[in-house]
Amino acid sequence: MIFLASRLSLSLCRRAETSAVLEANLRGRNHSPFSKSQQQLRTFAADTVYKFTVTPKHLETVKATLPLVGQAGTDFTKHFYRRMFAANPGLLNVFNQTNQAVGSQPKKLLETVAVAASAAIETGELPGEAIEGICQKHAALHITLEQYAVVGENLLGTIEDLLTTDQAVLEAWGALYQEIATVFVTREKEIADKVASVPGSWSGRRRFKIVDKEKVSSVITRFKFEPLDGKPTPEFEPGTYTTIWVPFPEGEECLHGAYKEQPRHYTLAMPRDGEPKNRYMSISVKKEGLVSSILHDSDIGTEWDLSAPHGCFVMSGVEKLWLTENDVPVVFLSAGVGITPVLAMLENIYKTRPASWLHAAQNGDVHAYRDRLREISAIRAGELIRRVWYEDPLPEDGPPAGDGANPDLYNTNHETVPH
Ligand SMILES: Cc1cc2nc3c(=O)[nH]c(=O)nc-3n(C[C@H](O)[C@H](O)[C@H](O)COP(=O)(O)OP(=O)(O)OC[C@H]3O[C@@H](n4cnc5c(N)ncnc54)[C@H](O)[C@@H]3O)c2cc1C
Ligand code: HEM
Repeated sequence: MIFLASRLSLSLCRRAETSAVLEANLRGRNHSPFSKSQQQLRTFAADTVYKFTVTPKHLETVKATLPLVGQAGTDFTKHFYRRMFAANPGLLNVFNQTNQAVGSQPKKLLETVAVAASAAIETGELPGEAIEGICQKHAALHITLEQYAVVGENLLGTIEDLLTTDQAVLEAWGALYQEIATVFVTREKEIADKVASVPGSWSGRRRFKIVDKEKVSSVITRFKFEPLDGKPTPEFEPGTYTTIWVPFPEGEECLHGAYKEQPRHYTLAMPRDGEPKNRYMSISVKKEGLVSSILHDSDIGTEWDLSAPHGCFVMSGVEKLWLTENDVPVVFLSAGVGITPVLAMLENIYKTRPASWLHAAQNGDVHAYRDRLREISAIRAGELIRRVWYEDPLPEDGPPAGDGANPDLYNTNHETVPH
């Protein structure tokens, strides 16, 4: 097993071997379990089921050692990231370093490997639905084959450092990781190809500048970006997001070293009525921590790198249902800045579909896009049912619905009525 050999060393030469094995795996795999016509029909791989081909012997070994990995828990995760960043400081720029400091998100990578291991043991299958969101995120971040090899080396290195040096165990986990990585890389390549094939779209990063900033609540600002190359931007599915990379040229200290840039994702807002469809990309950002604060403080004309639209939190599946059921109700539920993807969806369908809009916010001051929702309600009188809950209303928000009260507002004790 070349992969097993490669994991015994962190040398670049061995890492190249690991990438080569992944690459060979991809070539041998014929890239997709779908026929071409099926591929054209589906919008994302939720219906795909990947079948594991790891040998029963490897699976038995993984099964026997999976509890050890589980027991090591947080120590395993911490050790994995510590050793990976120490040998590959460039990856500090790829991973969200606030997530590393706070702690819950980093567990997800290794938890998913463990979940995939359980799936391999129990059913021998990995549902495409379970990994689509992850693959979209990886594709948006442009995770490379070589980076998969680095993660694999460090996964096995962590097992070896903390749990066992038994070669059979390392070989079994190596085989399983290689297979999971192949499934991910294959899907991510499909996503990248599909994204790049959309007119106006691009691979990698594209340079944009801020051409407009508009406050949509006291804490959320809408940013309008225009590409520097002056070429069109792509149309996108409502609910998809762009990735934005913020540079820190001087280097910023963090838990594992110093990073020089950080990526974050932001849902794309639909163009406003009358705005050209293929000229701008807009996002609505809540001022929170590192990157969002820098965005809020940046002036019109500031340049940023953006990714093309990615993501699978979209309405495509529902649209398929509409082909057969005309009166399927649409209910949008959101809270706080979580309004952004569902507002994009509502903007896309409100002219043709009745819908219910349920939104929760802290109070009227931070309630984004309230005027826009009132406008849509007025245009679609009777077709858009709108309910808003404030957790901590301000005096000027008025009492919940009733005579002379705020017509938007309901609280959990109030019986909601259509208006
Ligand atoms: C698919 C997707 C779409 C998204 N769409 C949007 C969108 O449309 N609009 C939007 O505003 N956001 C959106 N987000 C969230 C966005 O990507 C960022 O996560 C968000 O802007 C916060 O990033 P930041 O760098 O400003 O804050 P970070 O620095 O990442 O901090 C995040 C939070 O952690 C807190 N924090 C920082 N350090 C610590 C610490 N040591 N301990 C405890 N807490 C800490 C911060 O105060 C902050 O509240 C989306 C995320 C995803 C994944
Ligand atoms: C088979 C291997 C991998 C698995 C199972 C995996 C799993 C995951 C999961 C579950 C998430 C969270 C997704 C979400 O919250 O929506 C995630 C996010 C992420 N992954 Fe992976 N991943 C793998 C490989 C990689 C590799 C090779 C890299 C790059 C070296 C990488 C970089 C990231 C980054 C940067 C994020 C965003 C979250 C963050 O920055 O903390 N992943 N991955």
